[in-house]
Amino acid sequence: MSVPLKSMSSEKKCVVLGVTGGIAAYKACEILRLLQKQGMDVFVVMTGNACRFVAPLTFETLSGHPVAVDTFERPATWEVEHISLAKRADLFLIAPATANIIGKMACGIADDMLSTTVMATRAPVMIAPAMNTGMWENPATQQNIATLIARGVHVVAPATGHLACGDSGAGKLEDVAVIAQRALDVLRARRDMEGLRVMVTAGPSREALDPVRYVSNRSSGKMGYAIARAAAQRGAQVTLLSGPVSIAAPQGVRLVRFTTTQELLDRAMECAPEQDILIQAAAPADYRAKEIAPQKIKKRGGEELVLRLIENPDVAATLGRAKREGQVFVGFAAETNDVTAHARDKLVRKSLDMIVANDVTKPGAGFDVDTNIVTLITREGERELPLMTKEEAAEHILTRALELRLAR
Ligand code: PMT
Repeated sequence: MSVPLKSMSSEKKCVVLGVTGGIAAYKACEILRLLQKQGMDVFVVMTGNACRFVAPLTFETLSGHPVAVDTFERPATWEVEHISLAKRADLFLIAPATANIIGKMACGIADDMLSTTVMATRAPVMIAPAMNTGMWENPATQQNIATLIARGVHVVAPATGHLACGDSGAGKLEDVAVIAQRALDVLRARRDMEGLRVMVTAGPSREALDPVRYVSNRSSGKMGYAIARAAAQRGAQVTLLSGPVSIAAPQGVRLVRFTTTQELLDRAMECAPEQDILIQAAAPADYRAKEIAPQKIKKRGGEELVLRLIENPDVAATLGRAKREGQVFVGFAAETNDVTAHARDKLVRKSLDMIVANDVTKPGAGFDVDTNIVTLITREGERELPLMTKEEAAEHILTRALELRLAR
């Protein structure tokens, strides 16, 4: 164990390969070899159970590096081992990933070398699950997978076939060549936002009427979360200001919550000065109750109820007035008519560099759907994009925002 954990060449990308305890553990040897053939330096972390299926010596021999299993074994040449491995990774791949490690990752449990290391890493994470069909289809596993995907973890879904336990169905480790290819795709993905600080706002605000009721809108946060996730994957340091939504925060993103428009403004004013790019996809309420009833408002026996609303501050416009030289501010415009004209007006009024106009009356666009149809409007011109997923739209928005930033 005296071999120092150092890449053979600083040019080489480093993959930390996590191996968990399933019959498919032996296939991780082949994945390791395929990654090495593509010039990757691979370090292996095994769980205790994985060592029952394949001896660590096999991975040590193949990788040319010590295999990490025990959190408390600390060879003299290493710093804190799980942190050092976590930092070294350009990609953290767990293959095979059992239901157990998936559950731990989803819940934030770090109780062995692999779970602590993957929790500490800021590198992209990919998992290739393999397990019995019943375990894979169990709602707990499916919910954990959805949580990990929402956080930006890449999942290579298992194949369907004959399983080692005798069952047939989904749960078989995907073909090793496919896993290695997906890993390479992620490693070669662009990291063009490294060194940039990006603030994204997402979701609705809620304005209380009384202790149990509020005024809000249908924003799910999907658009803003997709932007935050994509920016983090492209290497930016991301702060996500989120209203009340039910989706998990992307991995590696600093999450700041708000409820009301005033809270969004307060948090945004604190964060904005240090940002390079601000993207405001949130849907803050324009009005709030003039007075919040201290007790639940009662029915009035058929009489009309009049709610008095007063205008909220405009967050984007207020931030725009405090904009620093070099910062790029992007807003959204949720419109139902005269989309481009209204959006252009907001671009100027809110001192934005770009506005993303979406006609929220179109099917597949706007609130609470997985897709959007947007037009990117700058002072120089417009670019109309077709229907696409919010993830794809996020990539276009970031690329244009980055161009504006580089042109400064
Ligand atoms: O969250 P999803 O379900 O994925 O839906 C996505 C979305 C429809 C919410 C998103 O694509 C979108 O259009 N967000 C902006 C919603 C909105 O408030 O639009 P607006 O045209 O009213 O506001 C224009 C801009 O000013 C926006 O950047 C908004 O964040 C900002 N604003 C609005 C009101 C206010 N009081 N302060 C603001 O800063």
